[in-house]
Amino acid sequence: MTNANPPVDTSGNPLTKNANLIRWVAEMAALTKPDRIVWCDGSEAEKRRLTEESVANKVLVPLNQEKLPGCYLHRSNPNDVARVEHLTFICTPTKAEAGPTNNWMAPDEAYKKLSGLFDGSMKGRTMYVIPYCMGPLGSPLSKIGIELTDSTYVVLNMGIMTRMGKPALDMLGGSNEFNRGLHSVLDCNPERRFICHFPQDNTIWSIGSGYGGNVLLGKKCLALRIGSYLGKTESWLAEHMLIMGVESPEGEVTYVAAAFPSACGKTNFAMMIPPKRFKGWKVWTVGDDIAWMRVNADDGRLYAINPEAGYFGVAPGTSYESNPNAMKAISRDTIFTNVAVTKDGDVWWEGKDGPVPDELIDWQGRPWKKGSTEKAAHPNSRFTAPATNNPWLSKYWDDPKGVPISAIIFGGRRATTVPLVMQAFNWMHGVYFGATMGSETTAAATGQVGVVRRDPFAMLPFCGYDMGAYFEHWLAMQGKVSNPPKLFMVNWFRKGSDGKFLWPGFGENMRVLKWVVDRARLRVGGHETVFGWVPKAGDLDLSMLDLSVERVDAATEVDLHEWEKELTMHREFFESLGSTVPKALKLNAELLTARLETARSGAI
Ligand code: GTP
Ligand code: SPV
Ligand code: MN
Repeated sequence: MTNANPPVDTSGNPLTKNANLIRWVAEMAALTKPDRIVWCDGSEAEKRRLTEESVANKVLVPLNQEKLPGCYLHRSNPNDVARVEHLTFICTPTKAEAGPTNNWMAPDEAYKKLSGLFDGSMKGRTMYVIPYCMGPLGSPLSKIGIELTDSTYVVLNMGIMTRMGKPALDMLGGSNEFNRGLHSVLDCNPERRFICHFPQDNTIWSIGSGYGGNVLLGKKCLALRIGSYLGKTESWLAEHMLIMGVESPEGEVTYVAAAFPSACGKTNFAMMIPPKRFKGWKVWTVGDDIAWMRVNADDGRLYAINPEAGYFGVAPGTSYESNPNAMKAISRDTIFTNVAVTKDGDVWWEGKDGPVPDELIDWQGRPWKKGSTEKAAHPNSRFTAPATNNPWLSKYWDDPKGVPISAIIFGGRRATTVPLVMQAFNWMHGVYFGATMGSETTAAATGQVGVVRRDPFAMLPFCGYDMGAYFEHWLAMQGKVSNPPKLFMVNWFRKGSDGKFLWPGFGENMRVLKWVVDRARLRVGGHETVFGWVPKAGDLDLSMLDLSVERVDAATEVDLHEWEKELTMHREFFESLGSTVPKALKLNAELLTARLETARSGAI
C-alpha cells in the first residue's frame, strides 16, 4: 500500500488535519489493503476524471451526449438490483434494542465476520475517501459522514446525492463526530453480502453489493437507520418522507411531509404539477425521499430539512405525462442504472412516453425486441439526478433552518380497504395511522412483489432500533411540539372490480392535497367516521375531472367489513411487535374495534 497519507486533493493541497479521521482511514486501509488511497474533494475536475476512468473500465456507458448531455448508464450485476433486507443487520449490544422487525447480529460477531471479508478486499484497487454532509452545509440539523469505497460508481453517485468533498471536511473540522462508513464491492456475491449498522458506534459496514441503498451509505443507512437512532437519543425525527411546499394563488406556502413506502409515489408526489383546475397553485420540491425534522424553540413547530442533494428515483413509469419535472431533471448530468437503451444511445423504460421502440438493448445489455415478455428495463431501475436540475426546486431546499411542516401524510399501496384520504382525530390517532400502515411489496427490495405487509411509517426496512420504542418516540414528540402538524392518511392505489386504479393519481392528487392543506389551516369541512375525518361531499374539488361518481365513491368508501379484517391485522401486528408497543396504540385498536361494532349496529 502506498500514499495512505497525507489527505490531499488532486493538486496536492491539504484537505484536512483531522487526526481521528486520518487515523481511522489508515486503520481501514490496513484492513482492506488498497493499492492507492484517493481523498475526494468534490471538484468538477475530479468528477470528470472519475467519469473518464469509469467509462474506460466499463463501469459507465456514455449515452447520447447530444440528447442527454453529461448522462451515463450503469448496469449492475443482475444478482444485485435492489436493497437486500434479509442481508441488512442492526448490530446493537442486545437483540432487544434492534427489535423484532430487524435482523440482528452482535457487534463483536459482525465486526469479526466482516473483517474477515474486508481483509484485503481492496487489493489491486483504489480506496476512495468520500467526505459528505447530509443536510445543508453549516446547519445544526446536518450530519457529516465519511464513506470509504472501492467503487467509482459509488463516488459519482454520492457526488450527486450529497454535499460531497472539501466543504464537508471543512464543516467537520477537527471533530470526531462523523459517521464511519466502509464499503467494498468484493466479487459481488450474494453469499458474501452484508449491510451492517452499528448505531452506538455511528458506523456502517457494507460489503458484496454495488447497488443503491446498499452502498450509497448516506441515504438509507445513515439518514434513516443510524439517523432514526440518533433522532431517538437527540429528540428529533429521521423519516422516509418527501417534503413539499404547496403555494396557493395568493402566494401562501404550506409545507407538507409524506411517508409512502419504497416505490409508492414519494418522488412523483414531491414533483407534482397541479392540473388545470388548480390554476395558480404551485408545488415546490424540498425533498423526495428523506426528512429530518426537529422542533424549533422559537415557534414550537416541526422544521424539516432534506438531508440529500439529489434524487435516486424509480425510472419505470416516469414520463412527461406522469412526472414532467422528473423528466426535465434527468435530461442532463444524470446516472441511469439498469434502464434499457435505444439504438441511438437514448434511455428507455416501461411507461416512458411515446411508442415502444422496435429494438432496444435491455438492462442486462442483451438485444430486446418489441413484444418480448421480458421487461426491457429492470422494474427497480433508477436515475441519479442533482436536485438543482428540478425546475420546481423550492428556494428553501438548502436552507439551514429547514421548512415548517403543517401536515404529515401517511400512505401505502393498498388495492382495497384504505380510502383516498382521512384525517386523524388527534396526534395519537395519527401515530396510529403511521404505526399500522400497510402496503403491497414492490421491486425496490428483493423478494415477492405485491404482498400486503405492515410497513409502519414506511420505515419497516429503515428503522434502526426497536419498532415499539420508535412508536413511543413518535408519541412522546407530541409533548415537545407545541404547534404540531396535522396528521393524515392517503391511498392512491385502490382498485376497482375491473382491476384498474380507481383514482387517476399523479397531478390529480392535488385535489386531495388541497383538502389536506385546508384542513391543516382549519378552513374546510369534514365528516367524522369511525376511523377518522373524511371530506364531506363537495369538500373535495372534483371539477374538470373526468371520473364517474361511482369511481369516486368506491375510492373514498369505508367498508366496515373490510375494516373489521384490517383491525384484526392491526392487533395481530402489534402482538408480533411484542411488549414495547405503547399501550395507547393497543388501546386505540380496541377502541376502533368497539366503535366499529357500534357502527355496525347502525348507531354511527
Ligand atoms: P422510492 O424511491 O423507492 O422510495 O419510491 P417513491 O416512493 O419515490 O416512488 P415513486 O414516486 O418513484 O413511484 C413509484 C411508482 O409508483 C411508479 O411506478 C409510479 O408510476 C407509481 N405512482 C406514483 N404516484 C402514483 C399515483 O398517484 N397513482 C398511481 N396509480 N401510481 C403512482
Ligand atoms: C427505497 O427503496 O426506498 C429507495 C431506493 O429510495 S434505495 O436507495 O435503494 O433504498
Ligand atoms: Mn425511498
